[in-house]
Amino acid sequence: MCGIIGYNGKEKVIPILIDGLKSLEYRGYDSAGIAYFKNNNIEMTKEVGRIKELEKIIKDEAAYIGIGHTRWATHGKPNKTNAHPHKVGTVTLVHNGIIENYESLKEELQKKGYHFLSDTDTEVAAGMLDDTLKSSKDMIEALSTVQSIFTGSYAFGILLDQEPDTLYAMKKDSPLIIGVKEDGYFIASDIPAILNYTKDYILLDDFDIVKIKDQQLTIYHDGKEIKHEVQTFAYDEETAQKDGYPHYMLKEIHEEPRVLEKTIKPFLENGTTSLLKNLPDISTYRHIDIVACGSAWHAGMIGKSLIEKYGKLPVQCHIASEYRYQPLFLDEKCLVIFISQSGETADTLASLKIAKEHGAHTLAIVNVASSSIARAADEVILTQAGCEIAVATTKAFDAQVAILSLLAFRTAIDKNEIDSKEIEQILEDYERLIKLTEKLIEQKDYEQIADHIYEKEDIFYLGRQIDYALSLEGSLKLKEISYIHCDAYAAGELKHGTISLVEQDTPVITIVTDEKIASKTISNMKEVRARGSYNILITTEMLDFKSDVYQDKIVLPTVHPMVMPMLTVIPLQLLAYYVALKRGCDIDKPRNLAKSVTVE
Ligand code: AGP
Ligand code: GLU
Repeated sequence: MCGIIGYNGKEKVIPILIDGLKSLEYRGYDSAGIAYFKNNNIEMTKEVGRIKELEKIIKDEAAYIGIGHTRWATHGKPNKTNAHPHKVGTVTLVHNGIIENYESLKEELQKKGYHFLSDTDTEVAAGMLDDTLKSSKDMIEALSTVQSIFTGSYAFGILLDQEPDTLYAMKKDSPLIIGVKEDGYFIASDIPAILNYTKDYILLDDFDIVKIKDQQLTIYHDGKEIKHEVQTFAYDEETAQKDGYPHYMLKEIHEEPRVLEKTIKPFLENGTTSLLKNLPDISTYRHIDIVACGSAWHAGMIGKSLIEKYGKLPVQCHIASEYRYQPLFLDEKCLVIFISQSGETADTLASLKIAKEHGAHTLAIVNVASSSIARAADEVILTQAGCEIAVATTKAFDAQVAILSLLAFRTAIDKNEIDSKEIEQILEDYERLIKLTEKLIEQKDYEQIADHIYEKEDIFYLGRQIDYALSLEGSLKLKEISYIHCDAYAAGELKHGTISLVEQDTPVITIVTDEKIASKTISNMKEVRARGSYNILITTEMLDFKSDVYQDKIVLPTVHPMVMPMLTVIPLQLLAYYVALKRGCDIDKPRNLAKSVTVE
């Protein structure tokens, strides 16, 4: 996580650093700091909390080279001492990632007389570089030496006391790009950090070493100078504005109809299925794994159900942080699908590399075309969600589900698993989806239901099959932005222990959209109701139940199960939003979280 920004050029650096940090704040926001050269001396300012706190204590000075960091603590509390930059000897640096062997390196350096002030792995990395530099011909040699010493992940922006005209950078398994402008170069964790200055950028590869001096950029790899292509970012100004909405999250929920349209249209234009052939053919694989984290994992669970049910292919869905350490039985007849909004999630990226090593074919469903996951996978399908700023994902999740649903649809057709009547119905429902989504977003009952539950401290979500995956997503959404403890359960599983937590008025939100198993889930609702729960039912028009099982109800339009999850998630997102709003939470930047999880 964390955001890095750096600049070396003709413009004043401090406004560039602050501006860059503000747009990277979504990546981590527990403390921030900057370092720059003034009259050939390093000046450093750090502060706990948001960038605006740092901004208050920073003066704009005539400085033209510097680095900045917004932290998401992995090693040591979020306090001023642990905040980046860290300076050891002549080395000042900012870091994104984790140096896994920092403890042994720290001991080694302490024996040589180094003292460390912070609890971070980053300060040890600075010490190691300072020490290595003493016996190296130059900084490039020192950087390539520490590449073989450090284990773990890193993106570094580095200044050296003895080279006040030079900015260095280096990366492995953490994102870093170079912004290119006529009068200077930037380093940044992500493209938005440089967009106010330039749209031209270079993507770095792992183990690249960067030197920026005298408006010249040099990239080294394996001891040789190399060149990377300069790309231009197609920036959509609108997505970066709140457009009058109080929060990005609410704005992004309102964008869902357009996002679904953009994501689906290239594959289903004119109400026919012929363009589905533009999707990869997944029907030939012996086995499919889906691998992702958080909400993307929930989308994967929905994908698994749809591909198995309609495409009749066996699929397993895995959490990436587990997948990377479990025995894998992959070969070239296996497909592994990786789902990620950011395309930078460390565990998902690591799992992708492992799957490739095993010889499996890899397919990425990502939202950011230039991301590491998009670049590493054999095949890519882009979700068309645009830039998502709120930490809690909404529109990108729905777009992921849309792609998985289309993949299941294509597979079902290819394998003759559905008849023409069902194909017609699915096509019709895809056609209606955009309007139905718009209507659902405008429905008024979410706020009123939020009123009943926002003061609770324990909430349960229930569902079966796809509705269970959606319960997990609803529960994650609510806990991440409202800080209410909640749990999602496969509806039939609650009575095996967790039902003991249900008390008088405990809210239980149950999703029932699958006609075939609806009566089973309704029985589970009755079981919790018998123990005093406050039941909220999310169901479809077709499955209208008697009011003795629920106190509140949200009714969804009835569409084919292939299309349904894209609608069902919307009330879950809006409910979480209004509960968090009523609790006065920081909706777009919830505590302890970061948008892009680039550490393990
Ligand atoms: C969702 O609201 C979360 N913030 C989080 O679970 C997220 O989905 C997860 O970190 C995966 O991110 P990715 O899609 O960028 O890989
Ligand atoms: N591991 C470093 C720390 O805890 C960097 C964390 C980050 O990427 O923000 O400070």
